[in-house]
Amino acid sequence: MEKRLITLNVNGIDYELYINPKTLLVEAIRDYIGLTGTKRGCDTVSCGACTVMIDGMSVKSCAVLAVQAEGYKITTVEGLEKDGKLAPVQEAFLDEGAYQCGFCTAGMLMSAQALLNENPNPTEWEIREGIEGNICRCTGYNSIVRAIQAVAKGKYMEVKS
Ligand code: FES
Ligand code: FES
Repeated sequence: MEKRLITLNVNGIDYELYINPKTLLVEAIRDYIGLTGTKRGCDTVSCGACTVMIDGMSVKSCAVLAVQAEGYKITTVEGLEKDGKLAPVQEAFLDEGAYQCGFCTAGMLMSAQALLNENPNPTEWEIREGIEGNICRCTGYNSIVRAIQAVAKGKYMEVKS
């Protein structure tokens, strides 16, 4: 298939990519742009390790072609921090120990952030529902839920740029 020139806006930066139209968004982010925080786990839209935000909503980037993401604002885990300061969800994950091996963490953070964008004060059930597409085989999830609850309770302040 003939390659195409596309522009992807990732973390506020426009990247011009010359790619095969069948390239997945996760491949474009990792292999072409070089942002390797986003992980590639199952490739079958099951694990959530590849989750990014598109216009503030969580999307599994193995389920989207890069060409389909053109014209949208893509945020990866690298784009959560502002001016070198971690985002509230990142601080909370650190404080609550909401990670072990870390493989799921980037995707989990993006789902958590997308949930909080949509619903700044979620119940425990809504949090569990919000991250149900993200599989973590290490933490048992409770620390992740506590971290998201702590952000919702306003324990962490966002840095305004
Ligand atoms: S790699 Fe996308 S959901 Fe697992
Ligand atoms: S911290 Fe290991 S898979 Fe979640």
